[in-house]
Amino acid sequence: MKIISVVGARPNFMKIAPFMHEVIRFNEEHPDKVKHLLVHTGQHYDDRMSKAFFEALNIPEADINLGIGSGTHAEQVGNTMIAFEKVLQKEKPDWVIVLGDVNATLACSVAARKLHIRVCHIEAGLRSGDERMPEEINRLVTDRLSDLLLTPDKLSIENLVKEGVPDAKIRFVGNIMIDTLEDNRDKAANMDLSNIIEDNLIKDQKIDKLERSQKFALMTMHRPSNVDNKEVLEPIIRFLLDEVTEDMPIIWPIHPRTQKQLQNFNLWEEVLINKRMILLHPLGYHEMLRLNMAATIMLTDSGGLQEECTVLGTPCLTLRWNTERPVTLREYGGASVLVGNNVERIRKEYLKTIATDRKPVRPELWDGRTAGRCLNAILEYEI
Ligand code: UD1
Repeated sequence: MKIISVVGARPNFMKIAPFMHEVIRFNEEHPDKVKHLLVHTGQHYDDRMSKAFFEALNIPEADINLGIGSGTHAEQVGNTMIAFEKVLQKEKPDWVIVLGDVNATLACSVAARKLHIRVCHIEAGLRSGDERMPEEINRLVTDRLSDLLLTPDKLSIENLVKEGVPDAKIRFVGNIMIDTLEDNRDKAANMDLSNIIEDNLIKDQKIDKLERSQKFALMTMHRPSNVDNKEVLEPIIRFLLDEVTEDMPIIWPIHPRTQKQLQNFNLWEEVLINKRMILLHPLGYHEMLRLNMAATIMLTDSGGLQEECTVLGTPCLTLRWNTERPVTLREYGGASVLVGNNVERIRKEYLKTIATDRKPVRPELWDGRTAGRCLNAILEYEI
């Protein structure tokens, strides 16, 4: 059997790592049964957004890099389809595996189905219900086209059934990101916080030194809905600078899109000058995990971090109005609460949340063994 797995952007790398390791293990026991090729579309290309993860998570280099790079959504998806179709025509795989909800997921599932190649979607069935979010379009199209839909939780199965997906196509496998978390938590736990900060600090920044066991907030923000509009971004920045940094330092590994927008909106200098706003370059996997383990509170618009906070128990404010991952919310037993991008709401929940203790929970099958179930589902597939 020949399988091509596709990755494109940072969140994919944490998901493919355990699957690749599982394939390698399987091939040691069953030589030549599965031929696996990894294709990187090249959507994320900076070393800190891509190469660093391959090294840290021990993923072999991609067999093929399509070199797509940045662009509008149509450019990224269109260019990926054109380049990936050529790969498919040459390699003729039995399966294409796509992950998550990035542009590579959509582009490669469409290209594969048009050539009548089977598609398996890992992390199927998540729905935010918000079609202004590019990832929601990617999820809807990918799930509509996939032959095998591997879901991280039971709510996702309900979403798929509601949309008319036949049961035979759906398998509940759990959350593959948690395999990566479990494989790497010991290594992360042994890292030194001050070194992480020192090694990743944005150039020319003067910060107050973080004392051992000092409280800090950890923050990430990159969604276009939060960072592409000055009227939305500026009040959030003011709240962070004027209120949160008064309570505790904020550690903020900053996404390239967000840095660019802060510069465009003349907010960059102001953020940079605050000594309790610790701006870091995008962090490696273990570094981020280490910070998440120690943070008093997380503020984020990332889906993956909501999930990691759930398992680590980090109280989390999700800077979005909706989530495709309701299992991470407090009302479902998780660690996070939706606060959108309205400062009054963020403040109210922030004050409640900093008084909340860590409470790790583990949704069903988030047990670190999802990759094996994914590979089995593909090997056992018969329709
Ligand atoms: C993508 C995913 C998003 C995911 C995020 C994680 C889609 C639709 N979105 O969004 O779901 O949460 O990745 O990071 O696929 N840039 C660099 N260097 C890079 C990559 C990007 O400087 O290595 C810049 C680009 O020039 C662009 C911006 O960052 O201006 C955004 O990159 P893009 O790949 O378009 O989407 P993300 O916002 O990263």
